Amino acid sequence: LKVGVLISGRGSNMAALIEAAKASDYPAEIVCVLSNVASAPGLQMAAKAGIATEVVSHRDFADRESFDRTVSATLEKHGVEFVVLAGFMRILSAWFPQHWAGRLINIHPSLLPAFKGLHVQRQALDAGVRLSGCTVHLVTGELDGGPIVAQAAVPVLRGDTEEALSARILRQEHRLYPLVVRWFGERRVTVSGGKVEVTGVP
Ligand code: GRF
Repeated sequence: LKVGVLISGRGSNMAALIEAAKASDYPAEIVCVLSNVASAPGLQMAAKAGIATEVVSHRDFADRESFDRTVSATLEKHGVEFVVLAGFMRILSAWFPQHWAGRLINIHPSLLPAFKGLHVQRQALDAGVRLSGCTVHLVTGELDGGPIVAQAAVPVLRGDTEEALSARILRQEHRLYPLVVRWFGERRVTVSGGKVEVTGVP
């Protein structure tokens, strides 16, 4: 499976995917990392790993859809078949998830549908939940919506700071995202009635 990863910043999830894809039995190959921000630290990491990088700045486009169409065409130029959002901080137009329907996933640092949007670890602490975690979901037109593919939970500890909770969740993200991309690479993921089934996963 030829995978394109979209980032805007740090790129630690991207790095986890690149690392996982080194395994000879990994069924996906990261063929392109694309960022809307030229200075995203993740781009340099990707280039060092020998992966093609692209920058498409949203500032160069008058509207979301023309940006999205250029991002898409750029990915397709690299033969991308499946798109992974990894800290990509742009809201997509309706066109993009339609074009990539079933082939576009995102990772979000909460147990969706709880805590959508930004600063979600802060939201979790403020709500006083005792469990949080991360969610990988198919991307539809709805922000942080779309069928849930997998989740990992972590405890929220007494006295947790946003940083401590974020770090605990991020460790699970780095485990979960490569696992989910593997499932897609093995063609084990299907969607029926808006719910995801993964062959061999209870
Ligand atoms: C992660 O917490 C991810 O869940 C969220 O954005 C962050 C990206 O971090 N969507 P990184 O760039 O992968 O390090």
